[in-house]
Amino acid sequence: MTPAAPRRHRKAAAYLGALAGLSLALAACSSGGGSDPAAYPEDDIEVIVPFSAGGPTDTVTRMVAEPMAEELGVQLVVQNVDGAGGTVGAGQAATAEPDGYTVLMHHIGMSTAPALYADLAYDPVADFKPIGLVTEVPMTIIARADFEPDTFEEFVTFVQENADTVTMAHAGEGSASNLCGLLLTDALGVDLTAVPYDGTGPAMAEIVGGQVDFMCDQTTNTTGQITAGEVKAYAVTTPERIEALPDLPTTTEGGQPDIQVSVWHGLYVPAETPDEIVAKLTGALQVALADQGVVDQMADLGTAPVSADQATPEAHAALLEEQIATWGGIIADGQGG
Ligand code: MLT
Repeated sequence: MTPAAPRRHRKAAAYLGALAGLSLALAACSSGGGSDPAAYPEDDIEVIVPFSAGGPTDTVTRMVAEPMAEELGVQLVVQNVDGAGGTVGAGQAATAEPDGYTVLMHHIGMSTAPALYADLAYDPVADFKPIGLVTEVPMTIIARADFEPDTFEEFVTFVQENADTVTMAHAGEGSASNLCGLLLTDALGVDLTAVPYDGTGPAMAEIVGGQVDFMCDQTTNTTGQITAGEVKAYAVTTPERIEALPDLPTTTEGGQPDIQVSVWHGLYVPAETPDEIVAKLTGALQVALADQGVVDQMADLGTAPVSADQATPEAHAALLEEQIATWGGIIADGQGG
């Protein structure tokens, strides 16, 4: 029988054992929040959508989440964390465990927030790793079905002559609908009463219900209502008309070329997420964007997946940096302020 070690030796052994356990736990944490990149993913992945359910960002996310989940072999669970033009959800994603189990879907609002929110809780570049771009969605100027003007030119004149009573919906400062609204009010030289929502999903419900007059929103949220005649559509904000709404003139055709904007979307993870995990998510995104079902769904809603070379962290990072500078300048010049 081995004689019992003296007490001081037993205490040292217990202490070393505890240290070993602690260092193993720390090692697991340092490798991206406790997940093993080589085995990733082993559990469901949460995808934060920083706007309300049923809106355009939610719609795009659910389109790509299904084929991504199939490729990764786990569920992608969409969580709508709305508020403050998307900055609440983006802030929650920025501070999530960098283990690949929290992903953020965001759009052009990721590049405008720094210029619009002095106390922004995150840095869109330093606090995230981009996974890749997803799609760039046109916007449409739509109104309640009984809004008086019939053509875009009539809409412009009506809004200029009734600026003190016309109401414009958007999804919070820095949202795509807010940015398009700012371009519109700058171009028309008017100040309008803005009605903010946590997403253009709920805003659409109140346009259809007649509680608010008009908004500029993405085709991924408006195509159905336009086609069904539930809202009036005046123009699309792209240089050329779009296949899904061939009869809708462009803002340029209507004499307002400065009201031009499309809403790019991308996926992000927290900055410390291991590159091996990012690469797996980028791969799954590229598979999803090549999925015929996704291509068809996007086409029906007036948009299309980006090309494979755009669905990369490098292309996504380059666009984000360029857009932060562009929108920072526009907003600083007061054109968007
Ligand atoms: C949404 O998903 O509700 C929209 O993207 C909000 C916006 O940016 O206008």
